[in-house]
Amino acid sequence: MNLLKNLNDTNGSAELILNCAENCLTEFDESLFGCEMGIAYGGGIESIGKIWKNRGTIYGVDTFEGHPKYLAETCSYSKKIGGINSFAAKCMDYWYYVRKDDYGIEKIKQEYIQSQLDKQKLDNVILIKELITNQTKIDFIQKLHYVLIDLDIPTSIWDAYNLVKDKIVSKGYLCLHDCLPENHIFGCYDIYQNILKENLFNIIKEYPKNFLVILRKKWDQLSQNYFMTRCKKINYFIV
Ligand SMILES: C[S@@+](CC[C@H](N)C(=O)[O-])C[C@H]1O[C@@H](n2cnc3c(N)ncnc32)[C@H](O)[C@@H]1O
Repeated sequence: MNLLKNLNDTNGSAELILNCAENCLTEFDESLFGCEMGIAYGGGIESIGKIWKNRGTIYGVDTFEGHPKYLAETCSYSKKIGGINSFAAKCMDYWYYVRKDDYGIEKIKQEYIQSQLDKQKLDNVILIKELITNQTKIDFIQKLHYVLIDLDIPTSIWDAYNLVKDKIVSKGYLCLHDCLPENHIFGCYDIYQNILKENLFNIIKEYPKNFLVILRKKWDQLSQNYFMTRCKKINYFIV
């Protein structure tokens, strides 16, 4: 039972994302490192902390002060459709104010999330209070086997991608939330297409109904052939 809420439980993507973290246990022999960028109430990293207990470290990045909607004013996509009034800017208001009894703004604070992790001795979950921009540095993270980018604002998704793309190991997972379906959050689909154009990742599967796409870092041809055969057996779709 989790003590922290996972917003992705409300759209069916949590299980798909956690499967990737679980797969890392058998797919990589070494100590695991992961990062969720945009943790909100922290339920995602709490789950991974449990799944990876004694095997890996999961970092969780957020402002812990609420969704930085002002960034929508500097995002070229969001700016076009209202900036601070765009959906990308306002999408967390529902959880903060409409669902305030269950969610609200107290449970996003770093002290609260840390206290719930401490209660469960989840010392492999590390909270990072940081605003992700094109100036952000995460030099203390050397490599990553799993990343979830769940930030809602197109420019933040792109900045987060650039922070992690070279740290993700060969065959490492990159889960992108809100980039599908095409008309979900204006600009996120374009960012996803720009990520694909970089040619660093394979699509494992797109889940438009769950606003999710799962990618994996490319690897050398020999192991790629082996992996494609394995994926076909377990019914993964690779493009
Ligand atoms: C949709 S919520 C994340 C949901 C979470 N992954 C879950 O499944 O419960 C988006 C979060 O991203 C954070 N966020 C958005 N842009 C950010 C940025 N540029 N830097 C840091 N955090 C950001 C917000 O504060 C918010 O908590």
